Amino acid sequence: MSQHDAVEVITAKRDRQQLTDSQIDWVIDAYTRGDVADEQMAALAMAVLLNGMNRREIGRWTAAMIASGERMDFSVLSRPTADKHSTGGVGDKVTLPLAPLVAACGVAVPQLSGRGLGHTGGTLDKLEAIPGWRAGLSNAEMLAQLDDVGAVVCAAGSGLAPADKKLYALRDVTGTVESIPLIASSIMSKKIAEGTGALVLDVKVGSGAFMKDLGAARELASTMVELGTDAGLTTVALLTDMATPLGLTAGNALEVRESVEVLAGGGPADVVELTLALAREMLAAAGTTGVDPADKLADGSAMDSWRRMIAAQGGDPEAALPTARETQVVTADADGVLTRLDALAVGRCAWLLGAGRARKEDPVQAAAGVELHAKPGDAVTAGQSLLTLHTDEADRFERALSSLAGAFDVAPAGTAYTPTPVVLDRISAP
Ligand code: URA
Repeated sequence: MSQHDAVEVITAKRDRQQLTDSQIDWVIDAYTRGDVADEQMAALAMAVLLNGMNRREIGRWTAAMIASGERMDFSVLSRPTADKHSTGGVGDKVTLPLAPLVAACGVAVPQLSGRGLGHTGGTLDKLEAIPGWRAGLSNAEMLAQLDDVGAVVCAAGSGLAPADKKLYALRDVTGTVESIPLIASSIMSKKIAEGTGALVLDVKVGSGAFMKDLGAARELASTMVELGTDAGLTTVALLTDMATPLGLTAGNALEVRESVEVLAGGGPADVVELTLALAREMLAAAGTTGVDPADKLADGSAMDSWRRMIAAQGGDPEAALPTARETQVVTADADGVLTRLDALAVGRCAWLLGAGRARKEDPVQAAAGVELHAKPGDAVTAGQSLLTLHTDEADRFERALSSLAGAFDVAPAGTAYTPTPVVLDRISAP
């Protein structure tokens, strides 16, 4: 006889009770083993979404998901380790320049990443646009690359937090993703199991993010910072703007191209600013002082690390990136100032062009996506290109274009525009 049964745990949360440690340990373990059915876990996830969990419950839920699989250990490395996790945004390619940049500053970056689902792109999908690059590494290959190059971005193996893998897939199809306790425990179980010594969280806020407002983003960030700190990781969160896309591209190969521009010392100002802000936080969290990441971008050492990181995983850093067979341009219909360009609409547009997937087994087009020619605050003239849509399949344009209805505002010339800062807030352990 088991200690608990699923209906007892579901009804407890349905009736707004706190789950006991023993109920949480049991339900996560039994679900991972297949003894709790998907429909029972879906009901529990919905009860959690509606009625919440307190900090003790979230901590225990996270620990139970970590305990469902292996925990990696990088303490044999001679360098400290730090990782970054973004809650996902449109055009968020920052991991690509950031990992080699931080490695060039002497801190190793072990980043286990995922593929994209929905309107935010996945880091692995972006890197897979590079000819030859492969996401799958064994734990031994990962360790060897961290020792040699100092940065690895690869797919999380099936042994890491398997409870989360199963639960996240279930939440995705049962309307139970948008729960702070479930998001925080999902992200932090993977990051703690990954074995990094320090963690910087980039919690996105705005239309293109999970968290549409600053209050919810603050709550998610502080929950994750507490979970990380309790697990012995130095953990800090930046809240960053996702009302408009980051940089000037959304789509896999387009974002790789822009990331290489940043590593070459150029690139859009917002991508450079966020990359440097996150790099500084990662170095500080790892206890490394006296190195300015801006110098490592300027002197080419971050670019050297990038080339080595890509080549170590079979990629050719010099190879031409794929380009789309078809393009279509969207123009401004009046003179004025672009005052809004909605991140969610651009993300959906890139997704409809083929840059993202609807189901996790769908392929993605490497070259599909959206290129921006203006950002909020820029003056525009009637007929000027605002966006270029890229795809390999011209029949995707119609739906992609319709997703841009109401996506941007052009106000009369001279209208005052107040830029939103890239970094909105910072949350660290109390
Ligand atoms: N990313 C995750 O890994 N888990 C969530 O629940 C949401 C975003």
